Amino acid sequence: MGKNKGEFGSRFGFIMAAIGSAVGLGNIWRFSYVAYENGGGAFLIPYFVALLVIGIPLLILEIGFGLRQRGSAALSYARLNRKWEWLGWWAPIVSFVLMTYYTVIIGWTLNYVVYSFGQSWGSDPDAFFYGKHLGLTSGIWDIGNIQLGVLIAVFLVWAINFIIIYKGVQSGVEKASKIFMPLLFVLMALVTLRGITLPGAMIGVNKFLTPDFSKLADARVWLAAFGQIFFSLSLGFGVMITYASYLPKKSDVVNNAFITGLGNSAFSFMVGLGVFGVLGYMAHSTGLPIENVVTQSIGLAFVAFPQAINLMPGFNTLFSLIFFGALAIAGLSSSISLVEAVVSNMMDKFNMERNKAVFVVCGIGFLGSLIFTTGAGLYFLDLIDHFNMQFGAALVGILECAAIAWVFKASKLRQWMNPISDFGVGRWWDSIVRYVIPFLLGYSVLSSAITELAEPYGGYPLSAQIMGWLIAVMLILIGKAIGSMNWSDQQLLCQEVE
Ligand code: TRP
Repeated sequence: MGKNKGEFGSRFGFIMAAIGSAVGLGNIWRFSYVAYENGGGAFLIPYFVALLVIGIPLLILEIGFGLRQRGSAALSYARLNRKWEWLGWWAPIVSFVLMTYYTVIIGWTLNYVVYSFGQSWGSDPDAFFYGKHLGLTSGIWDIGNIQLGVLIAVFLVWAINFIIIYKGVQSGVEKASKIFMPLLFVLMALVTLRGITLPGAMIGVNKFLTPDFSKLADARVWLAAFGQIFFSLSLGFGVMITYASYLPKKSDVVNNAFITGLGNSAFSFMVGLGVFGVLGYMAHSTGLPIENVVTQSIGLAFVAFPQAINLMPGFNTLFSLIFFGALAIAGLSSSISLVEAVVSNMMDKFNMERNKAVFVVCGIGFLGSLIFTTGAGLYFLDLIDHFNMQFGAALVGILECAAIAWVFKASKLRQWMNPISDFGVGRWWDSIVRYVIPFLLGYSVLSSAITELAEPYGGYPLSAQIMGWLIAVMLILIGKAIGSMNWSDQQLLCQEVE
């Protein structure tokens, strides 16, 4: 018998954990910018189509498969066919690499919670972030020093992950998600309310939502929508498979997927209003055109927001605490899902106790994070993120459709999960996961590959580009190698899954 890894105590707990994984930094600092860049209000059309055509059907596929196979990603695929097991390793390995720098960004948000008191970033948040905070060096091979403040914060992030995962599914992941997610919602609702009531907020909100329908003819806009949905729902990482395997045997699949997918997008949309409200206020109070203040990701959270906070007429410290606190919580609830997915794989394959697996994963993860705490950390983060995410996750998505929708068979999974779901899916779902999604993801991988070859990423030296490619290929090979190792508990593989 395999280890009993635990079960979710309630459906609400599962949904909070699934939404917790989905709602992360991407919802707060990426969605609104991607929308703004790709047609504003008109972007909601491809975005909604992507949610319905890729997001929710793949969520159904992952949740259904995990529930039916009752195992981590590795075990679920191995039970399908040993030849496919490597896919159940590749996905969590890609997530593990993502984890090594995702935790560093969460660490920065903790640093910024502390900086919020008295706005330590001073009058030039840009210089503060890149200089004093990151100690950014002149280039990727100029490693510089480990930044002590960042190191401490990153250690703390891994420690929090360690403690939550150590406690197991019900009193760890589930309990944390049940506290984190409602809290996150309240905090972000406050940020949004404040954002849209600032003077000039509407300049920003209009920019975010004014539709430019001509963009809909541009294939890149559609690809951006697919990418955003795919990343935002944490698809292709083995996370949803793992979480679903902790559901009681006869649980709803289809409705849970809809709730998770719609909840995640609703959250993104709400935050988008707040973010653009704040940006509109900045344009208003500095007199700059809105185009000049709009940014995304790191620049948005750690430069633009501190600038806006400096300008605010009141409650500056409180607003700052709430914003960075919310970022930290959004990040943490996603990171625990990544750690859990890897831990779950290790427990199944190597017959490890939870405490040992958590220790190994968090220990190695922390060591892996170290490179990102140096003065060259941001360069490594940018480069490795690019190579890890650009192809990894989408390729996993395609292979996942091959394994589950073709080898296992979509119709079989559908007939199995429809009766136990609140409502079922029709045959249309089979066609989507068998043909439409592999085609769309394939198209998106090909077009990124063409862009990549035409213009290597980010102007890094050739040696760094080669390192990026090597890492990407190595991850597959590691997945293959672990996938072909023997199981410590062979019996686990043949366990009845009905
Ligand atoms: N969905 C997360 C976000 O929007 C990021 C993410 C992508 C993720 N894949 C993941 C988080 C896998 C946890 C697990 O920020």
